[in-house]
Amino acid sequence: MDKPSREAVAGAMDAAVKWVRECRSLCVLTGAGVSAESGVPTFRGPEGLWKRRDPVSLATPEAFAEDPKEVWEWYQWRRRKIRGCAPNAGHRALAAVEAVKPDFLLVTQNVDGLHRAAGSRRLAEIHGNIWTVRCVGCGAERYEQGDFTDLPPRCGACGGLLRPGVVWFGEMLPREASGEAMEMLSRCEVLIVAGTSAVVAPASGYAAMAKRRGARVIEVNPDETPVSGICDATFRGKSGEVLPALLG
Ligand code: APR
Repeated sequence: MDKPSREAVAGAMDAAVKWVRECRSLCVLTGAGVSAESGVPTFRGPEGLWKRRDPVSLATPEAFAEDPKEVWEWYQWRRRKIRGCAPNAGHRALAAVEAVKPDFLLVTQNVDGLHRAAGSRRLAEIHGNIWTVRCVGCGAERYEQGDFTDLPPRCGACGGLLRPGVVWFGEMLPREASGEAMEMLSRCEVLIVAGTSAVVAPASGYAAMAKRRGARVIEVNPDETPVSGICDATFRGKSGEVLPALLG
């Protein structure tokens, strides 16, 4: 497809800003691309994490059962990397919307905690959070920002293995976050889909769900995705630049 003219993009942005401003309920779905400008690696694409490592050997319950140390080494590496990253203008624009939109929910597939660090509170982390750990024995969960000296780490209470508090392939989404997302998707008037390749279920189906009900769907992504075709507006740019313009 030809690149749209500057005038066409400006016209589309004016229309989208109006939809966002005038809607009663707004939902935003984010993926790894929203944290890319903060320095957090995405999963797919030429520099993506899954180019170098196989998800099946790192992000599945089977991989953890087989080699918890190897899985933890990768998560500890990611935790260290994310620790040095700060929220960007896209995260901040999303946090600021809460003050002006009473019915708002930010649904994120990101586990990096950068939305919360930017100030977002109406947040559904549907893939969990890399800063939480959960005991596979007693189920105790806690927030842990520091490094573990011995890998895999063990539960102080029962001695069971601790696992990262994230959702792996083949696992259910956390009930509360997923329920909140579903409720919002069943009533939002506008859904913004930002920085996700839209290939991982169930979030890959959220745009179609909202669209079927008549919500306007806006995509923010430098690249085309499987949901681009059903969007009412697509902005081919970085979320750190487009989201402040759209939500400002
Ligand atoms: N701004 C907006 N989008 C960007 C930017 C940017 N600056 N940089 C890259 N992107 C886009 C890419 O074009 C791509 O479409 O972000 C998307 C990132 O896609 P993925 O790496 O597949 O991330 P995501 O969609 O969040 O992955 C879903 O897959 O492996 C699992 O659990 C993991 O939550 C993750 C899930």
